[in-house]
Amino acid sequence: MKKYKIGVIGAGAIAQACHIPGYVEAKNCELTAVAEPDAKVLAGVRDRGWQFEREYSDYKKMLEAESLDVVSICAPNKFHAEIAVDCLNAGCDLLLEKPIALTLEEAKRIEEAARLTKRRVMVGFSHRFNELNRAAKDALECGKIGKPYMIRVRFAHSGPWPGWAKTDWFYNQKISGGGALLDMAVHAFDLCQWYQGPIQSVSAQVATLRKDIPVDDNVIALLEFGNECLGYIDCGWTSPAGFVGVEIMADNGCITVDYGKSTATMCCGSCAPDGSHELVEATLAEGYKREPWEAEMDYFTGALDSGQDFTPGVAEGIDTLRLVLAAYESSREGRSVAIDREAQASGAASSH
Ligand SMILES: NC(=O)c1ccc[n+]([C@@H]2O[C@H](COP(=O)([O-])OP(=O)(O)OC[C@H]3O[C@@H](n4cnc5c(N)ncnc54)[C@H](O)[C@@H]3O)[C@@H](O)[C@H]2O)c1
Repeated sequence: MKKYKIGVIGAGAIAQACHIPGYVEAKNCELTAVAEPDAKVLAGVRDRGWQFEREYSDYKKMLEAESLDVVSICAPNKFHAEIAVDCLNAGCDLLLEKPIALTLEEAKRIEEAARLTKRRVMVGFSHRFNELNRAAKDALECGKIGKPYMIRVRFAHSGPWPGWAKTDWFYNQKISGGGALLDMAVHAFDLCQWYQGPIQSVSAQVATLRKDIPVDDNVIALLEFGNECLGYIDCGWTSPAGFVGVEIMADNGCITVDYGKSTATMCCGSCAPDGSHELVEATLAEGYKREPWEAEMDYFTGALDSGQDFTPGVAEGIDTLRLVLAAYESSREGRSVAIDREAQASGAASSH
């Protein structure tokens, strides 16, 4: 069996929670090299019993010295684009953390480098690999609740606190590029489109409501899908989680994915105007056989041999970044922003 030479760039929280254990678990991968500028973070990796063959503080030196097959990019957001292009030019396939980049121009540079080098990129939209979401999507696609007309995604927690990430960058606008919207709602936008197809317009309010930080801590976004379906996303960094998950309302019922209870449930039936109703409830999934990050890494390491493009890839990364940028624009300018994917090839958003 081919063993893929794996490199990891940025060995902090997500590398340790998801990427490195995923490669250790996979039979076809070996921990060849890691690039991490913070010696304490590297020591933490060793302390957890993970031994890379070689360690670097500078990823460029790692790329020069090694012949890696695959690289995980787990550095903070600002560095994604430059590192991704360098790794593609070094001939590596990539698992690139979200958001793909900070601007559409940067994201397009990644797309172009992948095209020219014929390398593959997966973007880490981990919620797609959550088994509850997968059960809900299966039920939706089988037509169990009919045609959706409303989708809601709510993600919330009390926000990155000291020690959440191994290095403190989340509240530094220059490094993070944004707050709860870019960090968290980027997953929600991706999930909405995964369930329901392309979003046609976004109207958002982005605010720093509760924390004394220079980036946004809450966002609410209204979505139009253009197929008689609306949606809304509400994400925040300022509360205990409360309800976290997805609700999909459709002609014949609704599906609720409740992350807190670890359940995906379906309620079908109809309510008459007089209030009488006949409802049937069913559990679609309960608990996890594999945690979402484990499932994501199983998919990624399993797909290395196939030669097929990874999903979600660069296209999904770009499209989701476009929606996040449209939400920032909508909030800044107080208007709805139409998502014109052709006109936006150059990075501009348009209004209506
Ligand atoms: N998919 C998910 O659910 C998920 C969850 C958490 C974080 N993330 C993403 O992962 C990325 C990292 O977040 P984190 O929470 O692990 O942060 P972190 O601070 O814990 O880890 C980032 C690491 O990158 C290192 N680093 C900084 N600059 C670097 C460079 N130029 N080259 C190499 N390493 C560098 C830092 O020293 C740090 O150890 C972010 O883009 C974040 O959005 C994704």
